[in-house]
Amino acid sequence: MPSVRDIRAKAGEEPITMLTAYDAPTASIVDEAGVDIILVGDSLGNTSLGYETTLPVTVDDMARHTGAVARATDDALVVADMPFLSIGVDEAASIENAGRMLKEADAHGVKLECGPHTVDLTEKLVELGIPVMGHLGLTPQHVNQYGGYPRQGTDQEAAERILELAQAHEAAGAFSLVLEHVPSNLAADVTTALEIPTIGIGAGPDCDGQVLVVDDAVGLSEWSPSFSKQFGNVRAEMESAVGEYVSAVESGEFPADEHSHEESDLEEIY
Ligand code: KIV
Repeated sequence: MPSVRDIRAKAGEEPITMLTAYDAPTASIVDEAGVDIILVGDSLGNTSLGYETTLPVTVDDMARHTGAVARATDDALVVADMPFLSIGVDEAASIENAGRMLKEADAHGVKLECGPHTVDLTEKLVELGIPVMGHLGLTPQHVNQYGGYPRQGTDQEAAERILELAQAHEAAGAFSLVLEHVPSNLAADVTTALEIPTIGIGAGPDCDGQVLVVDDAVGLSEWSPSFSKQFGNVRAEMESAVGEYVSAVESGEFPADEHSHEESDLEEIY
């Protein structure tokens, strides 16, 4: 059974790999490729549910998609993202919502978009047996505060605040920390300052690991951020396959004899 201890042990030996997945077929491909951590990100709001932001994603959405991912995963650590306002409003509700990801959906841990309000909660969740991955830098649930998705930690004060929060979450028991869209020199400093592994997205090469949204990585997304990289072109493959299907049906080429069966004992009924 994969554990957060394996992830901590791997850091420093070779980079940790993390990708998102939101459904069983994608999770099985990602798992078989040897990815260390599968994140069921609330980015599923954008990638799979058609929302403009992650804000409408619910705890039920996360539990359903995390369950699908966990059922298809043998080796990777499965981490469920806690959606907007599912944590941080009320401690009991936060614990219950995070607990659902382990009890109902078989996740190994949860990810929290962090701020000063998640330090005590991290400690409580870890104490109760719920491993926590922190997330600092660009936290997309703050889109309305940012007015978009700008780089974070770009001035001295903001950079120091990120380091302080990173250290506070490490002290509270987080097992790793995502750093999103921050300068690579800040990510390098935070990585040096922490014992727990950092996992970067748009945070340069010096983190202990890297994460991407799977739709961006395989080339399924219509748009992806500049810090991402397309390692394939699944969208073009799907467009071509769907186009061929439409032509084959319209031309009568599909279904052919091998796709149908006739029952000789059946009498004509009309
Ligand atoms: O929701 C998500 O996919 C994430 C990653 C981009 C880190 O938070």
